Amino acid sequence: METAENAAPAAVIVAIDGPSGTGKSSTSKAVAAQLGLSYLDTGAQYRAITWWMVHNGIDLTDPGAIADAAGKPGIVSGTDPLAPTITVDGADVSGPIRTTEVTSKVSAVSAVPEVRTRITELQRWIAESAEKGIVVEGRDIGTTVLPDADLKIFLTASPEARAARRSGELKGADVKATQEALIKRDAADSSRKTSPLAKADDAVEVDTTELTLQQVIECVVTLVEEKRAEK
Ligand code: DC
Repeated sequence: METAENAAPAAVIVAIDGPSGTGKSSTSKAVAAQLGLSYLDTGAQYRAITWWMVHNGIDLTDPGAIADAAGKPGIVSGTDPLAPTITVDGADVSGPIRTTEVTSKVSAVSAVPEVRTRITELQRWIAESAEKGIVVEGRDIGTTVLPDADLKIFLTASPEARAARRSGELKGADVKATQEALIKRDAADSSRKTSPLAKADDAVEVDTTELTLQQVIECVVTLVEEKRAEK
């Protein structure tokens, strides 16, 4: 018989939003792995659709052309936090989606409403299918994709700290150039008309500037465990 003591923990849906370089991906993966939850990197999905458009010669200065092509690529995300995967029409694109070419074009593609509608539907379906619960990271998860998430976190950090972290990830890239590119991408992502990067009113804001990754992970794990206990 299932009692309160031996029942499996309730499925919990966690939305983690924020700009790039705040430790979103590392935190989300580690929290999901530690708590036995699935993990979804929604930025990888926008990068995958952008990669397909570049690869197929779509004119990315023409939002109409992007909208017409939005339904064509088949995007599949693997949600194991220890080995997340992303494929387009069956091909592994986890490497190609991280190139500077894709990074510089992803804001233009992800601003097109038809792209967002398609990817948002896919994200909701993945979240609903996660039996034990899921950590979903992105820009508009708490505001638009999963407004009823059990817990919403908004990660921030100073532009200097974010650029330093990104340069480290890109193995020695120029910090100043990285900071400029990052600020430009955040401005585009925050000012677009359809579901911009924004903190939900009921999100918990965590400023990670002075925190180690381990401290951020511990903080989020505690918040998730508190929510689970309430369910
Ligand atoms: O997290 P990332 O840097 O891999 O995201 C790549 C881009 O995708 C980012 O510049 C904005 C876009 N994005 C978005 O518009 N909405 C999301 N939920 C996630 C990412």
